[in-house]
Amino acid sequence: MGLEYFIARTGHRLVALKDVNLQIRSGEFVSIVGPSGCGKTTFLNAVDGLLKISKGQMLLDGQLITGPGKDRGMVFQSASLLPWRTVRGNILYGLELQGRNKSEAKERVDGLIRLVGLAGFENSFPSQLSGGMQQRVNLARALAVDPEILLLDEPFAALDAQTREFMQEELLKVWNATRKTALFITHQISEAIYLSDRVIVFSARPGMVKESIEIDIPRPRKLSVKRTPRFLEYEDHLWASIVEEVRKQGMLPDEIKSGPSIRPSDG
Ligand SMILES: Nc1ncnc2c1ncn2[C@@H]1O[C@H](COP(=O)(O)OP(=O)(O)O)[C@@H](O)[C@H]1O
Ligand SMILES: [Mg+2]
Repeated sequence: MGLEYFIARTGHRLVALKDVNLQIRSGEFVSIVGPSGCGKTTFLNAVDGLLKISKGQMLLDGQLITGPGKDRGMVFQSASLLPWRTVRGNILYGLELQGRNKSEAKERVDGLIRLVGLAGFENSFPSQLSGGMQQRVNLARALAVDPEILLLDEPFAALDAQTREFMQEELLKVWNATRKTALFITHQISEAIYLSDRVIVFSARPGMVKESIEIDIPRPRKLSVKRTPRFLEYEDHLWASIVEEVRKQGMLPDEIKSGPSIRPSDG
């Protein structure tokens, strides 16, 4: 598929994605990494049906994607919760819109609240929750409508390093329990490897699939797997691949401006 933005101010077209060719197996956890501005968010929004593609087609379960649908659940970077609704109310929201049976919906929601580790916080409001807890609510909300595929756009980017690692582990537990197909976007290479069955590297804009790396690390995975030689090999390989793309763009990301000997700062 391909996607162009039309810039009304200048009348120009900007090719954000060019010939992205990607197949995701049912139940697979796939991450996309790539230089900033390469089109990761654009791609995810296109899968979600929020953006129309200009070339090619996208299929979900054999069905052409033409717009948003309840077969896709999106988790954004910033917690996009309704501030006047409780945890339970936020997760219920999508089900209410679908006109689901009330008591059935509530039961489902309470099950999800336990799954994401928020038992006891059902009646809390978003402002009373930490960033990590808000993202748990977002995850539960995306799962509530029982989508075919979960779409996650840097969901942990705003969290501190420790909470982030903890949330990665928690996400894997939830994924293991639901085995939803997951498409995860991140700029943190170690996060992508830790979570995924496969890591896709996008080229510099216009985004294309540069590489697809199968992550052959057995599950369940503990966080300590990040320190094993095999993990570090994947990390080195992906890092080099992304740096190559960044160089093509003629600029370096902030993390590596300070010198070539520095590894990705894990943040
Ligand atoms: N609404 C938009 N209109 C025009 N250009 C856009 C819009 N959104 C993103 N872009 C451009 O498309 C490219 C890809 O952006 P994006 O998908 O956000 O990249 P990433 O998520 O990989 O950082 C960038 O060059 C960005 O400036
Ligand atoms: Mg983005």
